[in-house]
Amino acid sequence: MTTEAIVDLGALGERFTRDPFPVYADLRARGPVHRVRIPEGSLAWLVVGYEEGRAALADQRFSKEWRNASPALGVGQVASGTSMLSSDAPAHTRLRKLVAREFTSRRMQQLVPRVQQMTDELLDTMLARPDRRTDLVESLSFPLPMSVICELLGVPFLDRQVFREWSNTVVSSLDAEVRRDATVQMSGFLAGLLDDKREQPGDDLMSALIHTADEEGDRLSAGELMGMAWLLLVAGHETTVNLISNGVLALLAHPDQLAALRADFVLIDNAVEEMLRWAGPVETPTYRFTTEAIDIGGTVIPGGGELVLVAMSDANRDPDRYPDADRFDITRDARGHLAFGHGIHFCLGAPLARIEAAVAVRSLLERCPELALDGDPAELTWRTGMLIRGPEGLPVRW
Ligand code: HEM
Repeated sequence: MTTEAIVDLGALGERFTRDPFPVYADLRARGPVHRVRIPEGSLAWLVVGYEEGRAALADQRFSKEWRNASPALGVGQVASGTSMLSSDAPAHTRLRKLVAREFTSRRMQQLVPRVQQMTDELLDTMLARPDRRTDLVESLSFPLPMSVICELLGVPFLDRQVFREWSNTVVSSLDAEVRRDATVQMSGFLAGLLDDKREQPGDDLMSALIHTADEEGDRLSAGELMGMAWLLLVAGHETTVNLISNGVLALLAHPDQLAALRADFVLIDNAVEEMLRWAGPVETPTYRFTTEAIDIGGTVIPGGGELVLVAMSDANRDPDRYPDADRFDITRDARGHLAFGHGIHFCLGAPLARIEAAVAVRSLLERCPELALDGDPAELTWRTGMLIRGPEGLPVRW
């Protein structure tokens, strides 16, 4: 059992939000598991480093079901309905199977022309700005993934700004009360959306899921439908938005890497992997709870619903796994990174996210040969909370 004092990550404030990597590296030098207070307020066990982090992500002795969370944690579920991401096997297996075939790499490849078209339209609008400057989050990083997931699900008329505000609050607010309020509002909204789809089904994923629920033996309950819609809409954009922003920011901050990519766009897929490794948008994954005592590297985490988080951002910068790990290098072999998680909850949308990021970054660079940051990177405001890492806004000029 560790005798280390509790590390109060919340008390580090802005410094930790902006640049958590040195803090994680310090902890890693002392061992793989630490007792921390997270900025959201709860006490948690934080796993750092690649080997232990990877093993913990896949360890099914950790539960993702909220009913296994200790009430002492003082955290409540911040999602609507029941989803695969908050289920353990075998419930997880069943929920994932229902949509897995829709997200295969082959299926996603068919979307490339449409993703390209959406990107081109967004860039047309952006480049028409007479002042030749914009907030890239508003012009590209947010609207592209949001439009893609809305089209896939069949909710073209979603009020994106309202949805975005709830979604941002649910995943990034440090105030439990505020998170709960946003969750309630979002649930009401999604229930309405599902009702509309029931009345007017289309040739889309949401209608197909409702059809499954209504007509086949293995039905999705109302709560499961809600959970699926919530998960796909939130996971389908919050993350990719920040991959595009973090990736562009990394390139602009490393002119040699930017020049290498501009010189040979064949590197784009590898560059996206390196963006995921070096500046992945998910800093720690969703919550895991202990169901029994578990020994990680000599530290015993007690059972009984303790909260366990894996610092995936740190695992991806572990020098034991990646030589010169803090260096952003778009030509390195970044495979094996944990940005999409690991194990049964490995990101379902990874093929889609990779396509969106590659198309967005490449098209942006091709159409803006003089793209530059429009301001001091030290002035950027970063998303709060430990789940999502990315800038609130990214001012650029061309
Ligand atoms: C760069 C973009 C993305 C990143 C970095 C990312 C990251 C992740 C991570 C780390 C997990 C596992 C969480 C855990 O184990 O606690 C996950 C799960 C998931 N992601 Fe993504 N994601 C991205 C984009 C997407 C997109 C575009 C979609 C949907 C269209 C999506 C859908 C999902 C779903 C459904 C799960 C749950 C899988 C399961 O529980 O079996 N993600 N994602």
